[in-house]
Amino acid sequence: MKIEQIYNEFAKTYDDNRKLFDMTDVFSSFYNRLNVKQGRLLDLGCGAGEPFDRLFVDHGWNITGVDVAKNMLELASRYVPEMKTIQSDMRDIEFVNNQFDAITSIYSLFHIPTENHLSLFKKFYRWLKPGGKVLFTYATKEYTGHNRFNGYKEFMGQELFYSHKNPQELYADLHQVGFAIESKDYRKIGGETFLWVTVSKE
Ligand SMILES: C[S@@+](CC[C@H](N)C(=O)[O-])C[C@H]1O[C@@H](n2cnc3c(N)ncnc32)[C@H](O)[C@@H]1O
Repeated sequence: MKIEQIYNEFAKTYDDNRKLFDMTDVFSSFYNRLNVKQGRLLDLGCGAGEPFDRLFVDHGWNITGVDVAKNMLELASRYVPEMKTIQSDMRDIEFVNNQFDAITSIYSLFHIPTENHLSLFKKFYRWLKPGGKVLFTYATKEYTGHNRFNGYKEFMGQELFYSHKNPQELYADLHQVGFAIESKDYRKIGGETFLWVTVSKE
């Protein structure tokens, strides 16, 4: 089943379980790094908009959320009606250069094959204003059990596609694009360990 259908089907279940993932520390450590305290955020794979987009809106930010699953966006328009939402695969969308102060991809980039990551990072770089920052969640062997992975893994009773390179290959891609790596933290949230990466466009 395609990722879009899966998230459409378990939007409600996902929503019921989302509060198990406490994002307070992730939000504050990213927010404190930002050069502007109000600006434009692009959230890719925004899901229900909770809690990240809600927190940014409450801090006065203008949000554009992109998600491939219509039912997730319906939740987002309920929880964060202030945000603009676009239903699209993040690989297919295009924005004008130098538009955003921040870009987030929270628990979503790992659903996209690694062969597409470098081209997405190049777009993130173009879309960001100078001084802008990106925060994304990256899968690693702590989650999949493999150094590199493009395959299926069970999540909430569904076989979901996950992907990752090894961290050194990820960092090489980010440097190649021109990003400076500001932080790379393994965080265990809701019982799951992922690598949380913040990069900046100098
Ligand atoms: C695990 S959820 C995370 C949602 C939200 N970021 C959060 O933290 O709660 C992953 C989201 O990414 C979306 N997604 C997966 N692949 C995508 C793609 N290629 N383009 C856009 N959205 C995608 C799914 O529909 C789903 O809403």
